[in-house]
Amino acid sequence: MRPELTEPLKRLAERAEGVLASVLPPATLEPCRLHEAMRYSVLGGGKRLRPLLCYAGMLAVGGRLEWADRAAAALEIIHAYSLIHDDLPAMDDDDLRRGKPTCHIAFDEATAILAGDALQALAFELITDDPHGVPERARLAAIRTLAVACGSQGMAGGQAFDLAAVGQVLDESELKRMHAHKTGALIRAAVLMGAELSGQADTRQITQLAQFGSLVGLGFQIKDDILDIEGSTEAIGKRQGADIARNKPTFPSIMGLDAAKTAAEHTREQALAALASFGPEAELLRDLAHHSVDRNS
Ligand code: IPE
Ligand code: IPE
Ligand code: MG
Ligand code: MG
Ligand code: MG
Repeated sequence: MRPELTEPLKRLAERAEGVLASVLPPATLEPCRLHEAMRYSVLGGGKRLRPLLCYAGMLAVGGRLEWADRAAAALEIIHAYSLIHDDLPAMDDDDLRRGKPTCHIAFDEATAILAGDALQALAFELITDDPHGVPERARLAAIRTLAVACGSQGMAGGQAFDLAAVGQVLDESELKRMHAHKTGALIRAAVLMGAELSGQADTRQITQLAQFGSLVGLGFQIKDDILDIEGSTEAIGKRQGADIARNKPTFPSIMGLDAAKTAAEHTREQALAALASFGPEAELLRDLAHHSVDRNS
């Protein structure tokens, strides 16, 4: 079991924290309330899994960490936007996130909607302007990867599947499709963007990393479903039992808790197998595959 991040990953999470704090508009800049809400939702919380996968994807193909800084921040900013909107009354109607009141509770609904909108735009702005000389072609590929992962064929589409599924009985393949879109797409994009921005990944590596990212994303969401049952509100920073209260189809609800745990294990093994042709340069990716399933928060 590897519930904690390894030391190198902790250092990378700190690196992402620093980049995020520097790229977000200051709360003193007008419109102050909007900027305050954006900073409130992005900074000081969260596991930073997507930035970590982006850095680890970059290292797996021999690239330099600074080439991934902007994309790592963009991914976390998109993720924060998705959480703000996910928590709104029109969606999951949650009042606790990362151990704090959700954005629409701490501010108000209109500010939360706008903070999400502005964060999404900021994420794309960030990767168009890179101070480290990443070639334009690599940046364009990464921008496209992120756009597809956020859109109706990715995260936003997954959220639509999720909302349509409330109170429904889904089979395993429908549930996997929902998870692959709402969570898997951005996690896959995180690994891929790291590799793309290196400008030196070949097609075979890209295919294997995409496969790895999809599987980590699925395992990660299965674990999210499991933690809704077995986690503590204190550790997960959001209300335990919220899926059951809202009648959401989840892996444990359709197949039972034990089978969901087996499915998470199996997905981890498949993810690790996708990296079989990589050497020690992919070790951080392997650590993250373990962490995604072993985590307690
Ligand atoms: C929560 O994501 C939403 C899902 C996609 C399951 P995380 O579990 O990565 O949330 P933070 O960023 O650590 O708060
Ligand atoms: C959220 O899934 C996925 C996105 C935000 C895109 P959940 O609704 O399961 O996430 P939590 O459990 O609220 O973090
Ligand atoms: Mg949701
Ligand atoms: Mg939710
Ligand atoms: Mg959840």
